[in-house]
Parts: sequence; C-alpha cells; structure tokens
Amino acid sequence: MVASSSLRFDLKSYLKERQRQVEAALNAILPPQDPPLIYESMRYSLLAEGKRLRPILCLASCELAGGTAAIALPTACALEMVHTMSLIHDDLPSMDNDDFRRGRPTNHKVYGEDIAILAGDALLTYAFEAIARHTPEVPADRVLKVIAALARAVGAEGLVGGQVVDLQSEGRDDVNLETLHYIHTHKTGALLEVSVVSGAILAGASEELQEQLRTYAQKIGLAFQVIDDILDITATAEELGKTAGKDLAAKKATYPSLLGLDASREYADQLITEAKAAIAAFGAEADPLRAIADYITARKH
Ligand code: IPE
Ligand code: IPE
Ligand code: MG
Ligand code: MG
Ligand code: MG
Repeated sequence: MVASSSLRFDLKSYLKERQRQVEAALNAILPPQDPPLIYESMRYSLLAEGKRLRPILCLASCELAGGTAAIALPTACALEMVHTMSLIHDDLPSMDNDDFRRGRPTNHKVYGEDIAILAGDALLTYAFEAIARHTPEVPADRVLKVIAALARAVGAEGLVGGQVVDLQSEGRDDVNLETLHYIHTHKTGALLEVSVVSGAILAGASEELQEQLRTYAQKIGLAFQVIDDILDITATAEELGKTAGKDLAAKKATYPSLLGLDASREYADQLITEAKAAIAAFGAEADPLRAIADYITARKH
C-alpha cells in the first residue's frame, strides 16, 4: 500500500516546483549589495544549478510534521547557503582542487582563492543570520534549537570533522570501513540529517517523530555520499556538472574503493530500504520523503 502510494507521487513535478520556490527565496534573501564583489561571488555559486536537496528535505519534513513550508523557508535557504559554502571550500586548491562545479568554473577559478574563501565565510555566517532574523512566526525556543543543531552539524563535530578525516585519508591504502563510515556520515550525512530534523523542530514535532525522521535522514545521508562516490566513477562530467574520476586520481577513501561498485550499490539500496522503513508508519503525507529516498539511489547527477 505504501509502495503504491509513493509510486503515484509525481516526484519530478514536486522537485521542480520546490526548486523554483527555493531559488526564488534564495534570490530574494541574498540580493546584490555592497561591496559588489563579495555578493557577486556568493550569488555566483549559490544560484548556480543545484539539486536543492537539503532545502527541499527541510520543507518536506516541516510539512510532514504539521508545519507549513513558509515557516521553514528561511532555514531551507540557510541550509543551501551552508552547503554552498562547503562546496566552494571543498573545491579550493588546498582541498579537492576542482575546476568545475554546478556546470560552471569553480568559485576560486572566477574570483580567486581569497574571495572564494571569503564568499564561503560570508555564506556560512549569513545562513545563521537569515534563520535568526527571518523566522519570527516560530516560537524562539524552536529557532534556537535549529540554530544550535545546524552549528553542530557544520562544525568539528560534523561536516568539518568529516572533511578533515577525508583529507587525512587521501592517498592511504589502510583506510578501514569504520573510518570511511565516519567520513561519509560527517562530511555529508550531518548536514542532510539537520536538514530533515530542523524542519521537524520548526513544526514543533514530538521527540518521537524527530527521532524517526533522524533515522530516515541518517540513512539517506550516508546513501547519498555512497552514490556520490559511485557517480564519480560511472557518470560523465556533463551529467555531473563537476569533474568526474577525481576520487581515483586523488586516491580518496570511497565506498567503491573499499567494497567495489556492485557492493557499494547494494549498500546504498539497503540504506534506502532502511530509510523508508523508519517512516513506514506514515501514510501518503510521507510520500515526498519516500520518493526523495528512492531518487537518491536512482539519480544520475
Ligand atoms: C555535492 O552535493 C557534495 C556532496 C555532499 C556529495 P550535491 O550533489 O547535493 O550538489 P548540488 O547541490 O546538487 O550541486
Ligand atoms: C562532499 O564530498 C563533502 C562536502 C562538500 C562537504 P566530495 O568532495 O566527494 O564532494 P564533490 O564530489 O566534490 O561534490
Ligand atoms: Mg571533498
Ligand atoms: Mg570534492
Ligand atoms: Mg564526490
């Protein structure tokens, strides 16, 4: 019954409409200002073509928990700003040294490393300002929880920690599954987790619902990075909008490098099954989250 209801759900139109909504909000919340160079650089990466997965998850989770998309929109924008910061910094010569991102030259290729670092800093800090300033219709204790959860997810306990171990593991052939799991759940999983959980917090979800959604998010978060590793090998740069084949060249620790492609795909599928099991108690109101989970393994970019 659950499967058939999620089959009826039109994910393509849903994503298109949500992407449009998020992009309009991003454009409005971060208009060009003075000094022009930094806003231009921030908007160059933020408004380039992305899937907008994190903001869309936040909106969907808020709605599932009984809130409106409108109350979660500033937080959704903030999640995309933090994510964009992580991409700009991840691409820097001192990190993954990538020339293409979101179908265009990377931020530092256009604006220089100095401005790219500052654009990331400015996106990160503005993300928190945006949540704090633009969420007045939600009780302050919930907003405070979202700010604390996002800060934790991005810092040394989360994304930054994962990026550090990712870099330390480069070029080594003694990286084990436990370390790889740490890297992926932190560099990518943590932000996806808070994307889902923050929507639920804003809606005033019970602890029980927050935990169900957290489990869903942890599973799709890990699956998302396993698929990213696979696509780095199997997809083209045109499909990805970023350079392909970089992980092998840089000797990155990835699931395909440890398990092989087939076992990595099976692992991602298993995680998606577990993610959907975590929200099996819900009816059609959870169809967006189910369909997004399926999309994560089916995606080509
Ligand atoms: C890329 O994220 C970085 C990872 C965490 C794997 P996305 O694949 O969500 O990139 P965009 O936002 O669509 O550009
Ligand atoms: C993504 O890891 C993690 C963050 C950007 C925080 P990757 O380095 O694999 O991402 P891509 O492949 O460059 O998008
Ligand atoms: Mg990286
Ligand atoms: Mg990278
Ligand atoms: Mg990658």
